[in-house]
Amino acid sequence: MILDGKAVSDRIIEGLKEELAKRGSKPYLAVILVGNDPASRVYVRNKKKKAEYIGVKTDIFEYPDDVDESVILNKIDELNNNSEITAILVQMPLPAHISKEKVICKISPQKDVDCFTPENVGRLSAGLEPYFYPATPQGVLMLLDAYNIEVEGKHAVVIGRSNIVGKPMAQMLLRRNATVTICHSKTKNLEDIIKTADIVVSAVGKKIVRCKMVCKKSVVIDVGIYRDSNGNLTGDVDFNEVEPVVEYITPVPGGVGPMTIASLMCNIVKS
Ligand code: GUN
Repeated sequence: MILDGKAVSDRIIEGLKEELAKRGSKPYLAVILVGNDPASRVYVRNKKKKAEYIGVKTDIFEYPDDVDESVILNKIDELNNNSEITAILVQMPLPAHISKEKVICKISPQKDVDCFTPENVGRLSAGLEPYFYPATPQGVLMLLDAYNIEVEGKHAVVIGRSNIVGKPMAQMLLRRNATVTICHSKTKNLEDIIKTADIVVSAVGKKIVRCKMVCKKSVVIDVGIYRDSNGNLTGDVDFNEVEPVVEYITPVPGGVGPMTIASLMCNIVKS
């Protein structure tokens, strides 16, 4: 069965829109965008569009590539101290001369809808309640929940160890009592490990999951999204070959991508 992230996301978005329509006070999102990275500009535009659609006031603060680090840090200070602003998002990547660490540490954890700050990441890892859960892993779990796919006791293999997906995905699956293995570029016998998974979450950015690694009970979640040599959007999973074999699979596009947006919107409404 194909897990329809687009349909589940649309339902969540409509629910959030209705919820906000009933509320007196609205969330207020501030986005900081530095430089001209085309992908970042598309992501930010999509987030703003969706946020405004559900009724979230949104401001984008744009800066040129060569902006001083202090300008960004001061802006975050200002947004932290502005009680009207409920959510702050600094789009990554940042230019090399700006310290990602300083920027992330500056964001108020109570407004950190990306779950990037050490306080929120630490809370997540320590089994405490973070102010917000990270958007992509939370979106993946929301999708599994929408299809009543059990996580507890299952062997989940996460491929990729990024701070934004792999590591928090593993933490969140662990919180749901999965048995979790994290694999990465240096993992030996990757194929043998994937074969032992009940749930595979791949977040690598290259074609890695093939039909010989899965079985009819597998749940395959594809977080990877990139363009192949023909310019087509594709994921980490060889969809055509894996889909006929497994029990559940997410498509690319239309799987995890829309769920990430819906999940981020949940965080913004919570803010
Ligand atoms: N760059 C790529 N993905 C993300 C994300 O989820 N949040 C932010 N802030 N930047 C990103």
